Amino acid sequence: MNRQTQNGDRPIPVRPADNAAIAEAAAALKNGRLVVFPTETVYGLGGDATNPDAVAAIYRAKQRPANNPLILHLAPGASAEEWAEVPAAAERLMAAFWPGALTLVLPARSGTALADTAVSAHGAVALRMPSGDIAKALLQACGRPVAAPSANRSGYLSPTRPEHALHLPAAEVDMILDGGICAVGLESTVVAVAGDGRVRVLRPGGVDVEALSDCLGQHPAIAVTASPAGRQPEPAPESPGQLPSHYAPHHPVRLNATDVSPDEALLAFGPEVLSGAAALCTLSAKGDLTEAAHNLFSMLHKLDALPVRTIAVMPIPETGLGKAINDRLQRAAAPR
Ligand code: TXA
Ligand code: MG
Repeated sequence: MNRQTQNGDRPIPVRPADNAAIAEAAAALKNGRLVVFPTETVYGLGGDATNPDAVAAIYRAKQRPANNPLILHLAPGASAEEWAEVPAAAERLMAAFWPGALTLVLPARSGTALADTAVSAHGAVALRMPSGDIAKALLQACGRPVAAPSANRSGYLSPTRPEHALHLPAAEVDMILDGGICAVGLESTVVAVAGDGRVRVLRPGGVDVEALSDCLGQHPAIAVTASPAGRQPEPAPESPGQLPSHYAPHHPVRLNATDVSPDEALLAFGPEVLSGAAALCTLSAKGDLTEAAHNLFSMLHKLDALPVRTIAVMPIPETGLGKAINDRLQRAAAPR
């Protein structure tokens, strides 16, 4: 079939995620095509992880560096053991947090049907079993692991609403399944469990690190952030998604604002909102971090579309989900 190659020639179809659309999306995945679908964390850009062409299309569509590996999504009840070695600590974490906002980076099994490009250069696979109903139904109908990064262009804000994925190239993406705004609003927590049982948090996210520690009875080490872009690290970073500048809106971001000017947009938190901004979104008026996480990317998208100089952000407490929110905000504010 002759497909247009330019974005803008035709928009990507956005389909209410009813049974017919989910069945069509599953068929598209099995045909090696890409589909944007909602999970409880953020929207994913999905492709069949056993099909090298589909995996290559994901990298193209996102303009994602080839050294940044993808999370593979499993249907409810699917076996992680089929694709990876599962040390005891990983088994405990799966039992406690799957389905849910936890990704486990595990030693890949050799000789599986996975595309080589679905396994990292370090021989690891990242596995997640999402809890969102639409994601579950799609994965069940597809019957294969689905590789899915967040459905945004590499480096930009993550998508928590269907319209946030519209800028992806229509030639690569068959449809966007519309499931409204994502419940959690922050990407999954990424945890590596090595063959020797060592546990490390590579990315804070929707599952609080304290909850992981409670489950394991130990505090997992927090991995050091990968080297800044531009300085080529050697060897390749294990989890290159953790670059200092990431999740970045077009406007500069100013953190820990205690005042605001009339040419700035304000992302507020808590009951006492600074006055004088050109535009205002409040993450949570009652100071609730779960609500703030849910709103974070959606509000950043909204403010980023306005003709302002800067997005100023009020301080967010560094507790619970606040750690993951601050992680995203710091990367949004980092020098590009
Ligand atoms: O919530 C989420 O995790 C969403 C939804 C769609 O599931 N996905 C997501 O994917 O955020 P992405 O590609 O935007 O972020 C994946 C992160 C990156 O930081 C990447 O470097 C890391 O996980 N990662 C993926 N595979 C890895 C692997 N095999 N080894 C180490 N890190 C890995
Ligand atoms: Mg991402």
